[in-house]
Amino acid sequence: MRKGIFALAAVGLLATSSVAACGDDSGSDSSGGGTGSNASAGKVGIILPDTKSSQRWGTDDPKFLKAAFDAAGVPVEIQNAQGDKTQFQTIADGMISSGVKVLMIVNLDSGTGKAVLEKAKKAGIATIDYDRLTLSGGADYYVSFDNVKVGELQGQGLVDCLTEKKYTKPVVAELNGSPTDNNATLFAQGYDSVLNPKYADGTYAKGPNQPVPDWDNAQAGTIFEQMLTSNKNIKGVLAANDGLGNAVISVLKKNKLNGQVPVTGQDATVQGLQNILAGDQCMTVYKAIKKEADAASELAIALAKQQKPTTATGTTKDPESGKDVPSVLLDPESITKDTVKKVIDDGFVTKDAVCTADFAKACTDAGIS
Ligand code: BGC
Repeated sequence: MRKGIFALAAVGLLATSSVAACGDDSGSDSSGGGTGSNASAGKVGIILPDTKSSQRWGTDDPKFLKAAFDAAGVPVEIQNAQGDKTQFQTIADGMISSGVKVLMIVNLDSGTGKAVLEKAKKAGIATIDYDRLTLSGGADYYVSFDNVKVGELQGQGLVDCLTEKKYTKPVVAELNGSPTDNNATLFAQGYDSVLNPKYADGTYAKGPNQPVPDWDNAQAGTIFEQMLTSNKNIKGVLAANDGLGNAVISVLKKNKLNGQVPVTGQDATVQGLQNILAGDQCMTVYKAIKKEADAASELAIALAKQQKPTTATGTTKDPESGKDVPSVLLDPESITKDTVKKVIDDGFVTKDAVCTADFAKACTDAGIS
């Protein structure tokens, strides 16, 4: 059994059945308190981390979260800290003093996350770690994907692509996520469980391995450029998400090596899917953000109504505090050229966004019509 995960919970649909739809279609970040809000539910505050480390935080998560709260008529305020830890704390202070009943965060690092969660707790506010576990943070609930599995899918995806290339003892480089993101640790645990045995038995040669601070895509490009300069023979790259993967692909393009060196990713972003269709990216990991947002909203809505949530049936052991955090952990899915269609069919990205003129033929070839 995987360390830290004792059980996986299945996610149901939004359980709340009362409520009129919220009328706020203004497109702003914050809703609720208006005509459609549910009088018996307190307000929920949500802080997302940045808009640069992945498309999801600026686009997908806020969209799906807002939709879930609006559908339940529960007031919600969603803000993004834009990668700024001071800003993160300022937003939290504002939400706490405005009287939110539930605070949901995606931490920028465990230190600031913990400070915010502790303040919230002192104010009697229920807390949820969304996507990233705050180490020693003591959140009441945690909603995420099985992040070790995400890493395993990345490792296996790279192995499959390298096998297809028939390279002998390829040098594999690893570009890990932010060293302050517990998910990055779990992803690495997953892909290293696949790659380490290959290094050990001599199937692959272990190349350079580096974390990318704050998942910063520009830094990832610089880091990979240096890796490639000092090791021209890199034949495969485990990049921890699509943004890092794209930074690697840009460097490979400059060196006319794109397509020859398989690169992994994560998040099924439009750019990642296009890189896959172009043959420059080996795979991505699709995490159904709608399910994650629905699961987290369902918990938050119950808490905002002072009901005891029933859906967090799993637990995750906080490796620092040793405490079990009641959790909902969802299943990620590996996506290759043959299955890009699935992500479109699931409604996560549109065909129009992915199949632009440059990718029209690749889309047709991949069965996307
Ligand atoms: C998330 C990924 C995301 C990364 C960078 C991780 O914690 O799980 O989906 O790509 O952060 O934002």
